[in-house]
Amino acid sequence: MTVGGPRECRRDDFSIPPDIHYLNCAYMGPLPRTAERAGAEAIREKSTPWTVGPDDFFETSDRVRGHFAGLIGGRPEDVALHPSVSYAVATAARNLPAPSGSAIVLLGEQFPGNVYSWHRLARENDARVVTVARPDSVTAGAAWNERVLAAIDSDTSIVALPQIHWTDGTIFDLVAIGARARALGAALVVDGTQSIGAMPFSIEEVRPDLVVAAGYKWLLGPYSTALTWMGERFSDGVPLEEGWIAREGSHDFQGLVDYTDAYGPGRVRYDVGERSNFALLPVLEASLAYVAGLGPASIRNWCDRITQPLLARARSLGFGVEADAWRARHLFGLRMPEGVDLGRLRELLTARRIHVSLRGTALRVSPNVYNDEGDVAALAEALADSVAG
Ligand SMILES: Cc1ncc(COP(=O)(O)O)c(C=O)c1O
Repeated sequence: MTVGGPRECRRDDFSIPPDIHYLNCAYMGPLPRTAERAGAEAIREKSTPWTVGPDDFFETSDRVRGHFAGLIGGRPEDVALHPSVSYAVATAARNLPAPSGSAIVLLGEQFPGNVYSWHRLARENDARVVTVARPDSVTAGAAWNERVLAAIDSDTSIVALPQIHWTDGTIFDLVAIGARARALGAALVVDGTQSIGAMPFSIEEVRPDLVVAAGYKWLLGPYSTALTWMGERFSDGVPLEEGWIAREGSHDFQGLVDYTDAYGPGRVRYDVGERSNFALLPVLEASLAYVAGLGPASIRNWCDRITQPLLARARSLGFGVEADAWRARHLFGLRMPEGVDLGRLRELLTARRIHVSLRGTALRVSPNVYNDEGDVAALAEALADSVAG
């Protein structure tokens, strides 16, 4: 099957100078120019508050819900607007049962935004956290997935993990993990921050209880935004705060002090306070429209295509790479062979304006549609030079 989308580099859609090799979207995604323009316009509008009407408190938010729902195959009314992954995970921890003696399953070296609320929940409920460590081998993906499946048992109350690992792009088979969690009555909480936008995700296939993605990486949106799809387990839950706009009838600004205990429809109750963020939501909307316009599958395919020569070169230089079946295309680790001079590699990367993440003895490479073969070749050259010394 051929997938539509970029057949050429989309650098012109971004304000990235020609001499910058930005291969670090996993750290922070750049805004597309369309989002930049939406942001400038949004800031300007704050200078003319008389042009902001009551509908503006609702309409942009709802369009943003719709775009995110479209990306993951969910319903817009199941999407809540959050400021961070940690906020979404705290909401999940407040609402999902973790009885005394039960286990919460996490991955080793999972991003802390999807860890600390679970530690607290376990402490407070006398439950325990089971951390599934990465097997000690370069190609650990298959075995790591098996370990996760084996760790989910009749004691498990919650499984909270990402679609891919943020440090090295190991893929987790959420369809299999979700099926096992469901069969044993455990909830599945997914952090899609490092994947949604750059690889397909399907609510229908995974059947999670909650999926969150921060806006500022692969959704190419602004910082301090996150989108959270929440399933049936959250249809009657308790939000972290009691926002007025989350109440039934809040459209009627005249009647706001006719207090009501009833919440608005869907997952609106979980929205963060002042969720109609007039400066950031128009930017996020434009970013989501851009990502949706290209499509996560075609973004993944573009990344796959431009990184093939780098992977071949890295392997021939002795760098360790995960097996293709268990490695994301838009984010992957290169484990260094003996003899790489890390200091020299750092210098080379800086001098040649190549941006990747260097973590311990691994490089995290995370391209996107604004990258081309030249960016990736520059990195391959730097790797070769670092090995040659
Ligand atoms: C996997 C993952 N989740 C979440 C985040 C961000 O978490 P928060 O929105 O709580 O700052 C990051 C940031 O690097 C991440 O890599």
